[in-house]
Amino acid sequence: SRVLFVTSEIADFVKVGGLGDVSAALPRALQVHHDVRVLVPGYPQVTQSEWPIEVVAELPGLMDIPPCQLGRIELTEGLIVYTLLCPELYDRAGSPYLDPEGRDWSDNDIRFARLSLAAAQLCVGYPRHETTALEWQADLLHLHDWQAGLAAGYLRWNHVDTPCVYTIHNLAYQGLFPRHHAARLGVPESAFDEGKVEFFDQLSFMKAGLVYSDHITTVSTTYAREITTPAFGCGLDGLLATLAEEGRLTGIVNGIDDSWNPRTDTYLARSFATSDWAGKRANTEYVRRSFRLAVSHGPLFAVVSRLVHQKGLDLTIAVAESIVRAGGQIVVIGCGEPPIENALRNLAARFPGAIGVSIGFSEREARCLFAGSDFLLMPSRFEPCGLSQMYAQRFGSLPIAHRTGGLADTIEDGVTGFLFDEMSPDGFQEAIRRAFRVFGATDLFYAMRRAAMAIHYQWRLSVRPYADLYSNLVAPNESVAR
Ligand code: ADP
Ligand code: GLC
Repeated sequence: SRVLFVTSEIADFVKVGGLGDVSAALPRALQVHHDVRVLVPGYPQVTQSEWPIEVVAELPGLMDIPPCQLGRIELTEGLIVYTLLCPELYDRAGSPYLDPEGRDWSDNDIRFARLSLAAAQLCVGYPRHETTALEWQADLLHLHDWQAGLAAGYLRWNHVDTPCVYTIHNLAYQGLFPRHHAARLGVPESAFDEGKVEFFDQLSFMKAGLVYSDHITTVSTTYAREITTPAFGCGLDGLLATLAEEGRLTGIVNGIDDSWNPRTDTYLARSFATSDWAGKRANTEYVRRSFRLAVSHGPLFAVVSRLVHQKGLDLTIAVAESIVRAGGQIVVIGCGEPPIENALRNLAARFPGAIGVSIGFSEREARCLFAGSDFLLMPSRFEPCGLSQMYAQRFGSLPIAHRTGGLADTIEDGVTGFLFDEMSPDGFQEAIRRAFRVFGATDLFYAMRRAAMAIHYQWRLSVRPYADLYSNLVAPNESVAR
């Protein structure tokens, strides 16, 4: 089938978190099963890249959503990406979501309604007015997070029944806007209902995705269960519990792509294979030098993270002094909320030579930290899947993480990392103490490293459930007939 993968990030061009990685890897891994193409907004990272863009269609606007051109790019492994050429919405410095001062772009509703509307317009059966002839049309939409949610609405409001799969990467970001914005986005008055797109008198893009899609997935089985409960449901647990009862909500754990391999990663100070611990140590020493840490035989702990409440950095900050007193060192790369950035800078200033902090985003530095560290600190309050812990494991760094969401599904406590249950500095501390003990018991430590490095999270293995889901939705009768 022809599947359009609708996303606000793709790591080939722009990545804020794990969604960017998934959008780059999953459509490529799915190529053997379906004709999957990607739709992303035309941010400058896309339009000013080295890849040529061919304009293939004109897409009409709707109410305050401006018309735009559709560009086509062919990337490595033959992946086709469509992008929206709409400079007034996307040609801006800053991140896909935030202005350079770190505030949400004030027209994010229009920016992502534009993305969603384009997705609907590319479907077979969508009413055509001014749209120029299309070279390709989708039989199914695979929508990701709130930014793509309205696409399912635009289809249904036009009586188009193209199947939609909606994947929740993070329920905490719902795309909520004042109710009076509905009209400017072409959301019909009749949809403004509690059973549809209304969420406590606001317009919810996330709810549009959940209510109008045929099937909902999220990125781990534990998170799929958690979000049906009030503690993790962000106010949508009732709806999600109903979807789960109807068999329309499933968890499919993310994979990682082959570039995450310490034997071939060209970013590393030295590549290394499992059991080549001298090779790994060369990376540790490189990290120590580049963060100006003292020479040490103690363990090196890393943090590679968006700096937001979700990630539990407050716990890491609370335990940092005790890690240093016990002979450990900590290196951090991350960016996000200014108060967390400042708290980490202060920590580094208090413990020079033992704690190094780099505020920013760097793929190279992130990879060096996974390769150079002994442990990764990841006390997330909630974690839909989490990729950092998988990358760390692959590079022989054992994650120490809260037992929640995808962390619970991908880390085996005492075998491929450490888990703690109670979300408190004491709970975290206890797991860190166990990590120190294992670090001191070299044979056990190396055995855990080998176990972590041997895990195969390849997309090839997680790709099947998506491929089957697409097939069942596009041609349900055929699969029943078998
Ligand atoms: P989330 O999507 O919630 O941020 P994930 O663990 O799924 O969490 O994915 C985070 C991704 O972003 C990983 O690939 C991680 O390496 C990367 N990342 C996070 N912060 C940085 C940073 N400051 N520099 C480089 N990569 C980062
Ligand atoms: C979200 C989640 C993260 C997940 C990623 C990719 O950003 O916070 O846990 O791994 O999406 O699915």
